Amino acid sequence: MQHMNEIRVFSPATVSNVACGFDILGFPLESVGDEMVVRKTIKKGIVITKIEGFDLPFEVNKNVASVSALALIDSVKPDFGFEIEIYKNIKPGSGIGSSGASATSSVYAINELLGRPFNKLELTNFAMKGEFIASNSEHADNIAPALFGGFTLVKNLHPLEILQLPTPKDLYVIIIHPQIEIKTSESRDILPKMVSLSDTTKQLSELGGLIHALHTSDYELMKKSLNDHLVEKHRSKLIPYFDELKSKSLAAGAIGCSISGSGPSVFALAKGKDMAINIESIFKSVYSKSNIDFATYVSKISPNGVVTI
Ligand code: HSE
Repeated sequence: MQHMNEIRVFSPATVSNVACGFDILGFPLESVGDEMVVRKTIKKGIVITKIEGFDLPFEVNKNVASVSALALIDSVKPDFGFEIEIYKNIKPGSGIGSSGASATSSVYAINELLGRPFNKLELTNFAMKGEFIASNSEHADNIAPALFGGFTLVKNLHPLEILQLPTPKDLYVIIIHPQIEIKTSESRDILPKMVSLSDTTKQLSELGGLIHALHTSDYELMKKSLNDHLVEKHRSKLIPYFDELKSKSLAAGAIGCSISGSGPSVFALAKGKDMAINIESIFKSVYSKSNIDFATYVSKISPNGVVTI
């Protein structure tokens, strides 16, 4: 088969942690995400030729997309190279998986151009190399849902084990992204290195409850389980109006509300589109009285990850 020479891909924004699954749980959005064009070149190696949307480094050892791409080609050593055009829609540092989408797009695209030598698990490993330079830590809870689609649990990092969980069909996510910058590395530095046994026990029961709720489409159990006893109390201090977003959305019927990834975005889950739109307007009204710019998104949770377009 003649392999293609050029590909355009879409990689979704993702919500990671999902309240009770710090560093291990995430899901992708349906329509919010980045695009990337990758082309084969005669010259070996990786070069970034275009970046639109946001200001990101062109240096291949500093850009998340090229770092993950280099990890991939280093293990195949093709006798040609690749040039990358990045079209960012997800603002870096937003908490909805901007670096995860970049890392995912490049490895997925190059794997397609090479005729798929690697499976998605292997691609996750390459993409994690890019994610590492963005956050200074190893985690796959944005990359795995961006690659696999749907609710995704990172069961183990070394060796990598990913579990794909069911995604209840009426589930919507609402996101508000306050335009303040919180770097993932800083947002991780403020977390305690040790947590109490009682908080750990509570968190385990929440995660167990959520997993069961996803398998049974039990929205009531989901509502009782979307709580975070480990991280939210520390990070929420960095997000203006977090308590108000949470209390008002829950009072209006949200299934849960917490920080998306390392913030500053906040997400809520809702059953059905009407409820989702109502919660979006609550989020907007909370932030309208502030002088902070913000963006909101309403999306179904996508059963798909990165795709060729
Ligand atoms: N699980 C990570 C964190 C996601 O919360 O720090 C950051 O992208």
